Amino acid sequence: MSTVVLDNVTKIYPGGYLAVDRMNLRAEEGELLVLLGPSGCGKSTLLRMIAGLEEITSGDLWLGGELANHLAPRDRDVAMVFQNGALYPHRSVRGNLSFPLEIAKADPALVKERVTELSRALHIEETLDRRPGTLSGGQRQRVAMGRAIVRQPSLFLMDEPLSNLDAGMRTELRMEISSLVRALGVTTIYVTHDQVEALTLADRIAIMNRGVLQDIGTPAQVYNDPATAFTAAFLSSQQLNLLAATVRTPQNQFILLDFGPHQITMPWTDPRAYAVSQHTGSQIIVGIRPDGLVPVPEKTEGPTFFGRVRTLEYHGHEWLAYLEAGIPAVVVPEPPDRRRGHVNGGQSGMNGKARSMMRRLLNGGSAEDDHEDEQPQASGTHRRADLIVRLGNRPVWRAGDHGRVAVDISRLMLFTQNGSRIDPPRR
Ligand SMILES: Nc1ncnc2c1ncn2[C@@H]1O[C@H](COP(=O)(O)OP(=O)(O)O)[C@@H](O)[C@H]1O
Ligand SMILES: [Mg+2]
Repeated sequence: MSTVVLDNVTKIYPGGYLAVDRMNLRAEEGELLVLLGPSGCGKSTLLRMIAGLEEITSGDLWLGGELANHLAPRDRDVAMVFQNGALYPHRSVRGNLSFPLEIAKADPALVKERVTELSRALHIEETLDRRPGTLSGGQRQRVAMGRAIVRQPSLFLMDEPLSNLDAGMRTELRMEISSLVRALGVTTIYVTHDQVEALTLADRIAIMNRGVLQDIGTPAQVYNDPATAFTAAFLSSQQLNLLAATVRTPQNQFILLDFGPHQITMPWTDPRAYAVSQHTGSQIIVGIRPDGLVPVPEKTEGPTFFGRVRTLEYHGHEWLAYLEAGIPAVVVPEPPDRRRGHVNGGQSGMNGKARSMMRRLLNGGSAEDDHEDEQPQASGTHRRADLIVRLGNRPVWRAGDHGRVAVDISRLMLFTQNGSRIDPPRR
């Protein structure tokens, strides 16, 4: 009994803020489902509704086939771990691990066995007689996880359990969580805002933004074949190129994606051709990752973009080039912000606000073009985004060069103006 089904689940907080908007989701028996999205998008709210810590405003929650909207938390057979797994400070690690079983009046021999087994799996055997205050952050989170699963719940909920740990510890514990929950076979819903954590841990990832489900699929599906521009941008390790193009079908010979100074043709044999042609005469959004653009010699045939290399950026394992190609900038389309009483979208706080204010000053623009994801370099009213190009570990250009890149058409992601995919993803 451990499937989780959310059927049109909505949460409106007192005061009217819509935190989760008609969410439909299903976690399969034994699955590790990761809920991914920016801070404030409603992940914790959703998890807390599943745990019974937050009331569901409308819609249904089914746990193991049973309608659970009104079940008390203790009747849900659910264990939860938070960012700061709170431990009993005056009990040893052993005492913390065994406490839930003692409460349930379990046989002491069984308690001993279970605690030993779990402490081995979590690599905290040496700490069993110590108090939580003497442990490292990583050890404390291990104990918190152990205490949550020691009763063998049918559902395990984790809310950003690694976000307070340093990078090395996060990687280590991430691998252990993965093997532990898979060994136990307990259905797990894991919340994070970190796309690397999601991609590495998940059986499937559900991506949320502003309370709305954006996409769901295996890590490879949502990365390579994203349902929305938001998903594509959120999962990109480097900033995704999002470009405005007008669709044309000159004499019906082929499809022309018109980027202003650049045109790219797509043959009718392309599997997406028919879907794109439905947008003839309209503007669409074209997404391409920086590694889908490859520097080529000036006289190269086939689809290319070109421009002046504005700057190069060294990232250790790679160089990125910013190419001024004169293509109109596009902002990641998002659902309307339903928050009340907040000025900013809430995802990036003062930083985002300061950034966009600076951009407005630089660009001489107005509040209407106050967008967070644009490049701040252009001047005048028609701003242009830089094309971001991955150069690998050898910078083939210098700032000021004229650069040309080949465009791999198969890697173009095509979205409508509201950010949904023009050619439906394969799921
Ligand atoms: N008790 C509450 N009352 C009103 N608004 C809330 C409450 N808890 C959370 N929110 C708001 O709901 C939104 C989603 O919050 P949360 O689920 O914590 O997001 P996440 O976990 O994705 O960061 C946020 O804008 C937050 O401010
Ligand atoms: Mg949260």
